[in-house]
Amino acid sequence: MISVVEKETGALFGGLWTSLSDEQYRDSVELFTKRAVANNFDLNWLKGKKCLDAGCGSGRYSVAMAIHGAGSVTAVDVSETGLVEASRRAAEFSQITFKQASVLDLPFEDSTFDFVWSAGVIHHTSDFDKALSELTRVLRPGGKLFLLVYGAGGLRWKAIKALRPIVVDLGTEFVDEAIRVAGLPANNRKHFMDDLFVPVQKLTSFAELATKLPKLGYSDIDRWTGETFDHESNPAAQLEDIVKLEQIAHACLGLAKTATQRYLTQLAHQTATLYVEIARKAMNDTSITPADIRDVVIGEGNHRIVATKS
Ligand SMILES: C[S@@+](CC[C@H](N)C(=O)[O-])C[C@H]1O[C@@H](n2cnc3c(N)ncnc32)[C@H](O)[C@@H]1O
Repeated sequence: MISVVEKETGALFGGLWTSLSDEQYRDSVELFTKRAVANNFDLNWLKGKKCLDAGCGSGRYSVAMAIHGAGSVTAVDVSETGLVEASRRAAEFSQITFKQASVLDLPFEDSTFDFVWSAGVIHHTSDFDKALSELTRVLRPGGKLFLLVYGAGGLRWKAIKALRPIVVDLGTEFVDEAIRVAGLPANNRKHFMDDLFVPVQKLTSFAELATKLPKLGYSDIDRWTGETFDHESNPAAQLEDIVKLEQIAHACLGLAKTATQRYLTQLAHQTATLYVEIARKAMNDTSITPADIRDVVIGEGNHRIVATKS
């Protein structure tokens, strides 16, 4: 049974994948390999493995696992529209099977999979712990879990959290149009619409994960700290991303028609501008270390973790 929050989340994401060009999609598949290599994950290990892509979205990582020789990939998501798009993108890979299901209630027997991959999903569910325990239940002992969840801290998340209650009253169509007017690329559209409108967005500290995973029976917890190939690569890249928020807010100003929209868009623009100023100030602060700057601007960044189930 898929809940109202899951339906809303699925509908938001389902509409975001179609705007990616074939080249952007291929690049997004390639990120799997780049990040695995940068973090010394042995991609040969995947050969012949029974994999689950839990919350597969566009299917980019299911495709990547198939390319690296996975025996089978079962890809699940709550989003019907997302699954249609993912199936289209992955049509040439017969080892991938798509299925509509929630990570809160996976329709698989215990210990079904050798590898459970879940990137950017469980922090959007109404029950983070239940999702984590479901992913663990379907993983066989000795199998590996890959988890990407949002980390704590950083100015970008603070800017997003400050903007969310403002843009919710402007609506998704209004902000989507502002992203178009701001001239940002299609892959940025997904990134910002997701962050600004997804119903549930939990940030998790590494300390919280480091407590939870061993209690669920995980060991060999490997935290990927290598190159991220995204806006969290370094504080300058993160600042660029915060500047894009300001550009979106600026485009919103020009789209305002009603009095409410005029005031809300001013509030959004001033809020985004403030975060840009503070991020620039932190980056130019010669009295603190580069590690401090990273901590202020990026915070913990997304956690990418591989752990083995005992
Ligand atoms: C940020 S996207 C990540 C997609 C994909 N893993 C990737 O990295 O490209 C989050 C995905 O989780 C899905 N999702 C959200 N809640 C879910 C749930 N309870 N069960 C399964 N999928 C869910 C959304 O529909 C969306 O496709």
